[in-house]
Amino acid sequence: MKKFPKDFLWGTATSSYQIEGAAKEYGKGPSIWDAFCNIPGRVHNAETGEIACDHYHRYKEDIQLMKEMGVKAYRFSIAWARILPEGKGKVNEEGIQFYSDLIDELLNADIVPWVTLYHWDLPLALQLEEDGWLGKSIIDSFADYADLCFSRFGDRVKNWITLNEPWVASILGYGQGVFAPGRKSNSEPYMAAHNLILAHAKAVHVYRESYSYQRGQIGITNNCDWREPLTNSQEDQQAAERALEFFLAWFADPIYKGDYPEVMKERLGERLPVFTPEEKKIIKGTSDFFGLNHYTTMYAAQASGEKKEISVHGNGGISEDQEVDLSLDENWDVTLMDWAVVPWGCKKLLKWIDERYDKPNIYITENGCAYSDELVDGKVEDTNRVNFYKGYLEACEEAISEGVQLKGYFAWSFMDNFEWASGYEKRFGLHYVDFKTLKRIPKKSALWFREVTAANSVDF
Ligand code: GAL
Repeated sequence: MKKFPKDFLWGTATSSYQIEGAAKEYGKGPSIWDAFCNIPGRVHNAETGEIACDHYHRYKEDIQLMKEMGVKAYRFSIAWARILPEGKGKVNEEGIQFYSDLIDELLNADIVPWVTLYHWDLPLALQLEEDGWLGKSIIDSFADYADLCFSRFGDRVKNWITLNEPWVASILGYGQGVFAPGRKSNSEPYMAAHNLILAHAKAVHVYRESYSYQRGQIGITNNCDWREPLTNSQEDQQAAERALEFFLAWFADPIYKGDYPEVMKERLGERLPVFTPEEKKIIKGTSDFFGLNHYTTMYAAQASGEKKEISVHGNGGISEDQEVDLSLDENWDVTLMDWAVVPWGCKKLLKWIDERYDKPNIYITENGCAYSDELVDGKVEDTNRVNFYKGYLEACEEAISEGVQLKGYFAWSFMDNFEWASGYEKRFGLHYVDFKTLKRIPKKSALWFREVTAANSVDF
């Protein structure tokens, strides 16, 4: 039995496009994901988030289920196009009302809202008319949208996350083209990332300058896998370090240290945009906590020279820029995403962050796994998921006991949902969703989580 610190924050997470549905209703404008889903061949089985889990109409029932799980916090995202259908300008009051009601319902249930402002569903108008994250005007548009959210919800929301996983938005959206807006380039990801970082920083300044009286905290959530050197050779060790820098330090270094990692500047030359001295100052220090989404681990080695296809789920980034070959250990279990289950990688990553960024307060804002869960006699026996969570939470507990300032953990996801380009087949939820009837059924893992949150401990 391992006890977690008294004030450890147990939570669960979702995002707007993956669960809400009502994609064309109640005044919501289209987002890049609404559009992307309609392009043939982009999403598994041509599925879309048009109905998703119908959370828009069922949020009360969902919050009741969260309460039963005993979570203290719920992380969700606001669909920008639901409250600003064109991304800027006219406000859709019906959208504001929806999130306002959701927040009130959470507070009534004693669940603390953690709100992500951007979880990839960019208003389509901003993509078509202003070039999405490649255009400079997005920085002000995002800051204005954030301002609107702080002003309407900030009296009740005290925990803000500006961006979810800018790495994914940049690499999968602008590099590999497998996520919206579906662009393929070896330079656009670096430009999109640059504007994402500047937009994040500007929103944080809006919060700190105009809303400090609300006494909340604001930060960013980045994603990173662990990269373990394939061998002890100096080359492979450097390759693993380089891979982490291209993955996480790309976004975290500007925020914690004021600029991109040297290794990226050296290798990318003109493809890496440059921050002005003024911008560096604006960006540095713009995260009150270190938000981390973590799912898996791979081995990293100095590239052998032969060209290798990096799978989308390999999270490799632009591999030729890094000269890193990634691989898996054949003894590792993998989930339905083909992501390896390696809890010690989580611990190593937490320690890497702790050291590189000088002991920040870390929140794991996502961790979880997809399996092909089945409903049998009204139950889902997802023992594999319970074991996954046990392993990763044990790694978290070890990191905490070795001094890492890990303050909370949000399980991804509260319920099965629209898993982006993979559609509905990949089930990440603690609750099973029958996508025909939209009925929710707590899986074994949800019942297990209830015990964990109640005892504030895990029986490893
Ligand atoms: C994250 C993302 C989530 C969810 C999860 C599982 O990258 O933030 O929206 O899809 O991965 O793939």
